[in-house]
Amino acid sequence: MITAHHLKKVYQTGEIRQEVIKDLSLEISEGEFISLVGPSGSGKSTVLNMLGCLDTPTKGDITINGSPITGMNRTKMAHFRGENIGFIFQSFNLIPVLSVYENIEYPLIMIQNLPEEERKSRVLTLLEEVGMLDHKDKTPDKISGGQMQRVAIARALVTNPKIVFADEPTANLDTKTAHMIIELMKKIQREHQTTFVFATHDEKIVSNVDRLITLVDGEIVADQRMNK
Ligand SMILES: Nc1ncnc2c1ncn2[C@@H]1O[C@H](COP(=O)(O)OP(=O)(O)OP(=O)(O)O)[C@@H](O)[C@H]1O
Ligand SMILES: [Mg+2]
Repeated sequence: MITAHHLKKVYQTGEIRQEVIKDLSLEISEGEFISLVGPSGSGKSTVLNMLGCLDTPTKGDITINGSPITGMNRTKMAHFRGENIGFIFQSFNLIPVLSVYENIEYPLIMIQNLPEEERKSRVLTLLEEVGMLDHKDKTPDKISGGQMQRVAIARALVTNPKIVFADEPTANLDTKTAHMIIELMKKIQREHQTTFVFATHDEKIVSNVDRLITLVDGEIVADQRMNK
């Protein structure tokens, strides 16, 4: 489903040139539930952003669902991302002036341009699935952190992506809420065969995944299948 070959990422900030990823190759199959772990600064977010079409590698190729994404221009890439990929951020990134309902609906208007009836049915289904139907008319400042993350999950899933990338999705949540969010993502993975790739420090996520990839200094030092 995803193949990455010989990825390299160099960040240039003024005079300083930092080679964060040197030569990273990786294959991810459909429906996998994967954690990317490693020390702070090891390149987890960088890898996730490249695989998730939010940033481009300096060198190397990425293919997602048979489409080579390296070489696509920005517009094409944004379109491809909208059709195929969901992204969940540590800080939720909800739009403050929109209601819960409108936040979830937003990608359908902006990216997929679906008719209103279809939008409504998808948003309501997801609101139900993440347990936020009763809060649908509130703005994000009127709900808790865990609830915001549930809205962010619904927003990431509303376009029916085959792949969801999540960067530290539980970092801002208390233990109990983090557990609920993980269970929710597992349920979605089971029911929709969605592929999930998490960058995380959270042991609670790590103990739940099928596969654990460890990065150190931008290199994969371990790639383990977990038996459960
Ligand atoms: N936009 C950027 N410009 C310049 N350097 C960057 C940029 N983003 C990341 N870096 C550098 O690249 C390295 C890897 O960063 P990255 O954010 O991928 O690490 P990480 O594993 O996600 O860390 P953390 O666990 O703290 O989130 C770090 O040294 C960081 O300073
Ligand atoms: Mg990070």
